[in-house]
Amino acid sequence: KLIYLKNSAYQKHRNYSQILQEKNSIEKVTKRLNSQKYVPFMQEINFRMDEANRSILVQVHSSQSYKELYSYCNTFGNVKKMMHYSCGVEPMHFIIVEFEEESNVKDILSASTHTEDSQVVPTYSQFLWFRASSRKLSKLKQSKTAVLTCEDATTIVKESEVKDMLLKCEDVSEQMITLYENTKLNDVGSRLRFLTAKQLESTVSGMFPNANAFPFGSSVNGCGKMGCDLDLVLRLDNVKENNKSRLIYHCKAYSGSERSTSQRHMETIGDIIHLFLPGCSQVRRILQAKVPIIKYHQHLTNVECDLSMTNMSGVYMSDFLYMMGSIDPRVRPLIFAVRKWASEVGLTNPSPGRWISNFSLTLLVLAFLQRPINSEPILPSLNTLTKFARPEDKYITEDGINCTFLRDLNLLSFKTKNQESLSDLLAEFFEFYSQFDFGSKAICLNEPVSLTKPEHSAMYIVNPLERGLNVSKNVSLEELEKFKVEIRSAAWALESQENKIGNWGLLSIFERRNNPSQFTLSSKHRMMEVSTLFNEENPIEFKNNNVKNQVESI
Ligand code: CTP
Ligand code: MG
Repeated sequence: KLIYLKNSAYQKHRNYSQILQEKNSIEKVTKRLNSQKYVPFMQEINFRMDEANRSILVQVHSSQSYKELYSYCNTFGNVKKMMHYSCGVEPMHFIIVEFEEESNVKDILSASTHTEDSQVVPTYSQFLWFRASSRKLSKLKQSKTAVLTCEDATTIVKESEVKDMLLKCEDVSEQMITLYENTKLNDVGSRLRFLTAKQLESTVSGMFPNANAFPFGSSVNGCGKMGCDLDLVLRLDNVKENNKSRLIYHCKAYSGSERSTSQRHMETIGDIIHLFLPGCSQVRRILQAKVPIIKYHQHLTNVECDLSMTNMSGVYMSDFLYMMGSIDPRVRPLIFAVRKWASEVGLTNPSPGRWISNFSLTLLVLAFLQRPINSEPILPSLNTLTKFARPEDKYITEDGINCTFLRDLNLLSFKTKNQESLSDLLAEFFEFYSQFDFGSKAICLNEPVSLTKPEHSAMYIVNPLERGLNVSKNVSLEELEKFKVEIRSAAWALESQENKIGNWGLLSIFERRNNPSQFTLSSKHRMMEVSTLFNEENPIEFKNNNVKNQVESI
C-alpha cells in the first residue's frame, strides 16, 4: 500500500504521526528530540564554553597522527575525546583534543613552546601544532595506554550528495528531514565556533579578566548549517556588579560619545585580531553601521566571524529562536527548507543588502507557526512565554531592552494538537505569505496577530524584543516584489506536483524560474544593488567570493 499510493492527493492526507510510523529516519529524529530533556539555552552555551575551556586544537600531519598525539596529551591529563577535521584545498588536518579538566589544558599550554623563528609574534592560545617526534611511533604504540578512537568529523556534505539524497526520498516531508539532518551544524562545527570565541576571549583576558565572547545567531540558535558564520558579542566585563567592596578600580573615562568611544574600541580590537591572533585574517571594520561590527576569517577553524561589542540582545534573541525550534520537531526542518529555498532562488545573499535576511525568514516561519493552522497553532507566542517567566528569567539589557521570557521549556504547558506533515506545512507557509497583505500589515511574534504597519517600510516584522524596531527594514520594495513572485511560484510548484519526476518536491522549488527575461532583469537589479553598496561611504565588503564572482559574471 505504501509503495503504490504516492500521488499528491494521498500525501496531502497523511499526517505527521503516520509518516513517523513509516519512515525510520523521521521516527528516529522525532524520538530523539522528544526523549531529550530540554536543556535551557544558557545552560547549553555554558556547557559548550566549558568544553572549549577543556579543549585544544592541534594541527597535525594527518588524521593518523592521533595515536601519537593521544600518547603525548595523555601525559598531561585524561583525554576525554579526540575529533579530526580537515579544511582547505590542500587539506590542513586538525585534531580537537578534549581533556577531562581545564587544569590539564593549562598544564599542556604551559609546557608548549614557540618556534625559534624570530619573525613571528609569540602569542599564546589553544591553537597549536604538533611537531614530528624524533622517537619512533612504534615505541609509542607499545605503551600500555588505551588509545581512544578519533572521530572523523570533517565535512560539509557536498551539494550534489544532498541532491542525490533528496531524490531518493519517499516524499517531501522526508526530503525536509533529510536536508535538515545532513546540512545542520554538527558537533565539531559547534566546538570549532566555541574555540574561535575562546581564542578572542583569552586574548583580551590579560587586560579584562572577566571578558566573555558569546557566540549567538545561527551558530547556536539551532538554525545554523555547516559552514555558517559565527556571530560574536564581546563583553569586556561580564560581571553583574553587586559588590559592596570599599576599594574601587580606577577606570578610564570615555573620550567622546559612547558610540564614538565604542567605535575606537572596536577599531583597536580589530587591530589586535589582525596583528596578534594566529589564523585570523581579512579583518574588515564596518563601524558606521547601526550595530558596528568587525568581520574576520579564522582559517584554522575555517570560520567567518562577525564581532560586535554592543548589548546582549542578540544572544537573548538566539535564546528565543532556540526555544522555538525546540518546542516542536517540525520547526527546524521547516526553517531549513525555507532558508535553502530562498538562497537557491536568489532571494537571500551572503552579503547584507536590500534583500531579506535569513533572520527575517526565520521569524516569518515562526510567526506562521504561531497562527492557527487548521485551527491549532504549533508554537506559542512570545507573550505566552513572557507570562510564564520566573524571577530568574528576568533579563534587561543595560540599555533597557526587556528580554524577559520563560527560559525553561520543561515548565511550559503548551502542547499542540496539530499533526500536519512537514510537506503540508511548507505548502501552507508559501500559501500564507503569498496571500499576506505586506502593503498594510506588519508581522508580529509577540502575539499571533497581524498589526497595522506603523510606517512605510516595504516589509515590516516587529522585532519581538524591541517592539519599536522593524527587523526587515532593509528590504526594498523591489526585493519584496521578487519575494512575492517566488513565493507564489513555490506554492504553485508544490501544489501542482503529481509525480516524482525529475527534480521533484523540494528540488523543484529550488529551481529558479525559467523566464529568461525576468532572470536577466533580476540579475541586473542585483548588480545595481551591490554596486550601490560599494558606492556608499562605508562599503560593505563581500563576505565571500561567491557574490563577487556572481557580480563579475553578470
Ligand atoms: N539579530 C537581532 N536583530 C536583528 C538582526 C539580528 O536580534 N535585527 C540577532 C539575531 O539573534 C540573529 C543574530 O543577530 O540570529 C545574527 O544575525 P544574522 O547573522 O543576520 O542571522 P543568523 O540567524 O545568524 O543567520 P545566518 O546563518 O544567515 O548568519
Ligand atoms: Mg549569523
